[in-house]
Amino acid sequence: MGAPGPVLGIETSCDETAAGVVGPDGRILSNIVYSHTVHADYGGIVPELASREHAGRLPGIVDEALSTAHLDVGDLAGIAVTAGPGLVGCLLVGVAYARALSKPRRIPLIPVNHLEGHAHTPAMTDPDIQYPHLVLIASGGHTSLVLVERRGTFRSLGQTRDDAAGEALDKVGKWMGFGYPAGPALDHAGESGNPAAVKFPRAKFDGQGYDFSFSGVKTSAAQDWEQRQSGKRPPIDRADWVASFETAVVEALCDNLFRAAEDLSIGTVGLAGGVARNRRWRRMVMAWAEKTGRHAVVPPPDLCADNGAMIAGVGLYQWAQDAGTNVAIDAVPNWGLGCPLPLPDSN
Ligand code: KG4
Ligand code: ZN
Repeated sequence: MGAPGPVLGIETSCDETAAGVVGPDGRILSNIVYSHTVHADYGGIVPELASREHAGRLPGIVDEALSTAHLDVGDLAGIAVTAGPGLVGCLLVGVAYARALSKPRRIPLIPVNHLEGHAHTPAMTDPDIQYPHLVLIASGGHTSLVLVERRGTFRSLGQTRDDAAGEALDKVGKWMGFGYPAGPALDHAGESGNPAAVKFPRAKFDGQGYDFSFSGVKTSAAQDWEQRQSGKRPPIDRADWVASFETAVVEALCDNLFRAAEDLSIGTVGLAGGVARNRRWRRMVMAWAEKTGRHAVVPPPDLCADNGAMIAGVGLYQWAQDAGTNVAIDAVPNWGLGCPLPLPDSN
């Protein structure tokens, strides 16, 4: 059973301050995201600055999410909040604000795992999605291939052993002079490029697992780019170089996703996380699905990156578990997908 009314979702785990509302039928009524710009000058996220941004922006973002949905706090059946994984100071801002909103009004508070939010976005995009299905979550901090056995039940099939896919894109893009995060800029810079212009190495592991590794391609790309700038290697068209690098990263994602779908005979796959906004990756997955007669669910870009609607969506189906208990929740920076929420030490 889901919630008997709308659910608000609050997301502050990293560098997006976000809130969204879903109706009792799961429809998205609002999804407001503020992406921090303060980190651009530092080439990466500065945790202390992120916490301050969340603290300053969250009340306004929540108000906007409620007003866009034409609701007051009192209309909510539940308030869902990301409790982990993420940066502890950032998570604490969201958790504290959610508690402050819910407790005086006795609205059930629902702690949500951030990765479960991402993993749920294909099901939010296609409410008739088949189970089991595969979801590949690729973001700046995570690269995880997950089998969603049924709603809310996950089996991890593989993850990165070093850098996340988005992290590799961001780091190489930073060395090339793109700002942070570089993923969106690379997507545009490589648009018209030849993806076969440069051959970058692909990680291969012994055995049949579905783990990923992106540190090899990152280092090799950084060296290649440096050598082309210094004249040690022949110059190359920038769009061709970017298209080739981007292809090396997204093909590595596809290799495991497609192999797992074939090995486990799974007919439906979904993409999630900020890297799923990448147009080259989206096209590649759609083309494979069409060729193999499978169903690929590629969520709209706003649902791929961190957002509050995905947290509200999980809160909606978890509502029955937590309704009425108003649990004292804490931030859990390393909360694993599918693991029970550890009890708070004291609060
Ligand atoms: O899911 P997300 O918004 O935040 C995290 O949980 O990390 O993902 C952010 C990541 C960054 O690495 C960013 O460069 C990447 O997603 N990204 C993209 C694109 N848009 C965002 N990567 C490739 N192409 C894009 N269009
Ligand atoms: Zn995320």
